[in-house]
Amino acid sequence: MEKRWWQEAVVYQIYCKSFCDSNGDGIGDIRGVISKLPMIKDLGVDCIWFNPLYKSPMVDNGYDISDYEDIEPAYGTMDDFKELLDKAHSMGIRVIMDLVLNHTSDEHKWFKESRKSKDNPYRNFYYWRPAKPDGKEPNNWGNYFYEGRGSAWEFDEQTGEYYLHNYSYRMPDLNWEYEPLREAMYKMMRFWLDMGIDGFRLDAVNRLKKPEGLPDSQKPPTPPVGIHGYVVDRTICANVPGIHELLREIARNTWDNYDVMTVGETGQVTADMAPDFVGADNHELNMIFHFELGKNAKIITPKIYKETQKRWFTVTEHNGWEAQFLSNHDTPRQVSRFGNDGEYRVESAKLLATLTHTFPGTPFVYQGEEIGMTNVYFDSIDDYDERYTVGKYYTAVEAGADPEETLKMLQPLSRDNVRTPYQWNDSENAGFTTGKPWIKVNPRYKEINLEADLKSKDSIFEYYKKIIKMRKNCPAMVDGKLDFYMFDHESMLVYTRSCARQTLLIIANYSDNPVKIEIPEELKSKNFTRILSNREETSPSLLKEREEWLPWETEIYELTTN
Ligand code: GLC
Ligand code: CA
Repeated sequence: MEKRWWQEAVVYQIYCKSFCDSNGDGIGDIRGVISKLPMIKDLGVDCIWFNPLYKSPMVDNGYDISDYEDIEPAYGTMDDFKELLDKAHSMGIRVIMDLVLNHTSDEHKWFKESRKSKDNPYRNFYYWRPAKPDGKEPNNWGNYFYEGRGSAWEFDEQTGEYYLHNYSYRMPDLNWEYEPLREAMYKMMRFWLDMGIDGFRLDAVNRLKKPEGLPDSQKPPTPPVGIHGYVVDRTICANVPGIHELLREIARNTWDNYDVMTVGETGQVTADMAPDFVGADNHELNMIFHFELGKNAKIITPKIYKETQKRWFTVTEHNGWEAQFLSNHDTPRQVSRFGNDGEYRVESAKLLATLTHTFPGTPFVYQGEEIGMTNVYFDSIDDYDERYTVGKYYTAVEAGADPEETLKMLQPLSRDNVRTPYQWNDSENAGFTTGKPWIKVNPRYKEINLEADLKSKDSIFEYYKKIIKMRKNCPAMVDGKLDFYMFDHESMLVYTRSCARQTLLIIANYSDNPVKIEIPEELKSKNFTRILSNREETSPSLLKEREEWLPWETEIYELTTN
């Protein structure tokens, strides 16, 4: 089947604020990114996804947009962005933008107008409701950021009504039922598409439609009794009936008329629901980020990992396309979370890369992953910035939880783990800025940085280069059918990807221990030649001779005739 460009591509995610600071103000910026395009090219990726670059008061690092058609001054100007776009294109790198359709900043002009009076033309761009007869909030929904008393409603004195905010009270939800809002959004999206960007990553896109009548949740936020005591019902605004019609309407008016890619962020979507979003003829989205692996708060064992991959492949095999990722700007660092960021940091980072690049779908690499950046453990809450961590901390501590213990619990989960500055070299501030970085640098930068990786042919960065390049020459990585062997094994992953032109076999020991296995005869009897390994020096390269795999050992074999 003829492939679309984004199926063959590898996408690199850039969190501009923490990537490279060109002017010493401590904040990463567009000129910083421009200066690093050669490194991105060297890595071999085809496309960059930028976290929001739009004008924003930065309550949620840019997901609170105050002007969709302007660039955040801390990041640069629209001219800087256009220059970046041109340069990237001239180097064969596409650019996709993050698009936040669910909410704006409270500083957006629409919201400023909207709150002025009940009959303001922008009033219905947002959800405004009077208090209940008993004086309480319009319903019992909680906000996801654990702010204030937890409600998703904020009272606004000026008109004596509440507005809805599923996230921060500084990020009011937009009302997609209202046609003028939809039209304004389509116009804005076409502004970017006409400029020549190559697509969108769509933030929380299955939450645009709210349940009719905004009914109470069956699971109201529980009283805050420690960090696990406060649970917000995130299901109520997810996948509400009508969401697919809405997505198709958006597509029709915008991206369907351009050769671009779309990837939606969709929490609460299970594999069986995927075809509705990404079905080949649905005209909704190309791909979605589900939350069953990379964005799951639960522990993912190798078995759960395999089961999840199998489940998703089964439904998308003939209808749709997957997005593969293990981390992004909302998760911990993948090597800390799924791998081993101590003794086996290098091996496990390479193993995780192998999985992301050899399971079906388009691989997404989050900045720093390609040099094995690790979680940071700040010892004071004051060093943390992101809303979930800070909100959860104070909710818990105010409810009587022990501050030290609360911090300890939050450290490995915090989104700030992935938001510390990119580690370019071992000079002060890891070469990210000549000033004071907006968030502290991970103290491991002396050991973990790009410059060090570039000096070693066995580095994680080199491994990423190889595997990204491999995708260009290995049709089975893009097109191959997925088959597992020894599926029930606790720590070994053994699977093939095969298409008419090629068969690849991937073997990975997803554990801290050496593992002996008997490779099934149907594989062993064939001529598999190793084409990539993260422990080349230690093992024989013929499948027939293999019986033991070292901790985090990973290999890719190709089936050859004769
Ligand atoms: C998405 C973004 C996250 C943001 C939230 C609100 O989950 O990935 O960073 O905080 O939406 O926009
Ligand atoms: Ca800067």
